[in-house]
Amino acid sequence: MALDAKAKETALRQFTTGLYVVGSKGHGDAINGMTANWVAQVSFHPPLVAVAVEQDAHTCRLIDEGRVFSVNVIRADEAAEDIVGKFVKPARRAGNKLEDEEFTTGETGAPLLARALSWVECRVVAQHQTGDHILYVGEVVGADVNREGEPLVLAQLGWHYGG
Ligand SMILES: Cc1cc2nc3c(=O)[nH]c(=O)nc-3n(C[C@H](O)[C@H](O)[C@H](O)COP(=O)(O)O)c2cc1C
Repeated sequence: MALDAKAKETALRQFTTGLYVVGSKGHGDAINGMTANWVAQVSFHPPLVAVAVEQDAHTCRLIDEGRVFSVNVIRADEAAEDIVGKFVKPARRAGNKLEDEEFTTGETGAPLLARALSWVECRVVAQHQTGDHILYVGEVVGADVNREGEPLVLAQLGWHYGG
């Protein structure tokens, strides 16, 4: 039976996810942040997190260079849309998205946003080309809880990336 394209799109858009800012660090001072929802924990021991990144995203280039990434969990408050709206812009057009953003760096050098609820930092242990994205699997080597609150859920914004 042929794939029902509309049903496939609807069902995939009904997958419930959060919405995060994936931080990356390449060679030298090169850093970036990218809004992403294709993020998941994929192992307890060791703790592994996977993120799928578009092949032409600047983030892909930086993760290939630095072999690290961070996942910033965004707090579901009035600033949430501003944060994810900022990091959804491609670096090739927006330039340095972190220029006016407060952040620290930890174990890996990938940016950890001051406005995030919490974060994990990962070192890439595997990667695989999955169609038009690269799936990076990272071992969690650092984590912190920065604020109190609830994590942002994609559906709260009425945005989608999937289908
Ligand atoms: C709701 C939403 C979720 C997104 N999730 C992802 C994702 O999981 N992976 C991805 O590669 N891009 C995702 N994007 C698109 C990137 O944020 C966008 O292509 C960004 O410009 C890439 O930034 P960069 O080129 O600076 O790395 C998403 C966009 C939106 C609106």
